[in-house]
Amino acid sequence: MATAATSVLPELDAEAFARWRAGGGKVVELMAAARELGPVAGFRLGERKVVLVTGAAQVQQVLAKQPDEYVKRGHRVKPLLGSGLLCAAGEPWRRQRKLLQPQFTGRGIRAYEPQIRAAVAAAAARWREAARSGEVREIDADLRYFSLDVIWRSLTAHPLDPETHRRLAAASEGFAAIPAFAPATGDAAVDFTEANEQVDRVAEHAIALAGEAEEPGLVQVLLRAAAELPDYTERLVRDELMTLVVAGYETTATALNWLFLLLDAHPEQRARALAAGPAGSAERTAAIRALVDETLRLYPVAWLMPRYAAEDGELDGFPIEAGTTVLLSPHLTHRDPQLWPEPEEFRPQRFLDAERRPAPGAYFPFGLGPRACLGAQFAVREMVLLLEELLPAYRVEITEAPAETAYRLTVHPDGPVRARLHTEGE
Ligand code: HEM
Repeated sequence: MATAATSVLPELDAEAFARWRAGGGKVVELMAAARELGPVAGFRLGERKVVLVTGAAQVQQVLAKQPDEYVKRGHRVKPLLGSGLLCAAGEPWRRQRKLLQPQFTGRGIRAYEPQIRAAVAAAAARWREAARSGEVREIDADLRYFSLDVIWRSLTAHPLDPETHRRLAAASEGFAAIPAFAPATGDAAVDFTEANEQVDRVAEHAIALAGEAEEPGLVQVLLRAAAELPDYTERLVRDELMTLVVAGYETTATALNWLFLLLDAHPEQRARALAAGPAGSAERTAAIRALVDETLRLYPVAWLMPRYAAEDGELDGFPIEAGTTVLLSPHLTHRDPQLWPEPEEFRPQRFLDAERRPAPGAYFPFGLGPRACLGAQFAVREMVLLLEELLPAYRVEITEAPAETAYRLTVHPDGPVRARLHTEGE
């Protein structure tokens, strides 16, 4: 039960906002300044007051303990993904999540492991050829191709085809134009007409392929639901399957992209992970998993999660009015020196120390609570399987990387990442 809120929320003053605006800064800079004021702090975007929640206990409170008080509303990708799981709310969301959840547990994803392994083998074959020829690769494009191939095979039991790849790459351009937080930029709404065209064609193709497949795929789970449950209209099947593609594709690829950039700067960490145990050992898998965890600490791809206060309440003793936008940012919480010693350092070992687990709410690259990422285990599994194959075989020498980081819907390097691949047998 909420007690009466008595404290005054610490807030960045209007001058701080004006200075930020005049300097053309990124919204993350304004948020970082607000974090300095405390675990719950306010800032203004013009007339609009926003509450930023960065303390671990408070993040836990908002996302895990009070999900019905701090709700999702009108997700930024709704024009593209309609009523799919990412954008759904209330009772329809509950039913949709219940249907897909069993597919994404540790046990559920085992059914898709042969598909993931086939995509890993195809990615490894492409790199083998590139290493032999000595060409410089755009590895961000390779990693996007890989993660799209994984999800496409898991949906349809077919490898990614060039036409689908082209259509989804085109649709992604619409997706990439979405700002992190529209009120901060005042951007005009993105036109999704072209992206929606592409997505409709891709969804039709996925459904046609799934009809021919002998092995099970996620599309069949949705089609079965459509045959049995009145809620699952043709439109919802389309929205749901494209939600799985969109939510699972750029996110995983971007995390892998950051991981290779970090290993280029810290080659000793690749050596340490490989030295943890022989190929296939639990020790090596754990060390590679720690590389993934630490990458997602420094670069939690979904770096900004907005929520809205559904009713008047209080958080940490501060009043929160109904309708207030509440922002959570794993990017800021993961770099809070009070929660993470030397937070800017890339130190995967922090995740191998069972004694020092992060406090609840201190680490949430996949969100927390009932709206946490459906595909978290799936994503980790595909990343670990790929890295178990590629890390021992290749040293990745980055030849060109963008100097800037883009903080949009995802946090990503702002341009292509090019690399030369050097073969290294074990
Ligand atoms: C490194 C990769 C990934 C990251 C960092 C990531 C991150 C996230 C985060 C933070 C959320 C919650 C957003 C919020 O609370 O506002 C989310 C939701 C979701 N993710 Fe992921 N994700 C990843 C991969 C995947 C994959 C591979 C899939 C599917 C195959 C997937 C499917 C979903 C879905 C369906 C939701 C919505 C869940 C719901 O609202 O019930 N994600 N993801």
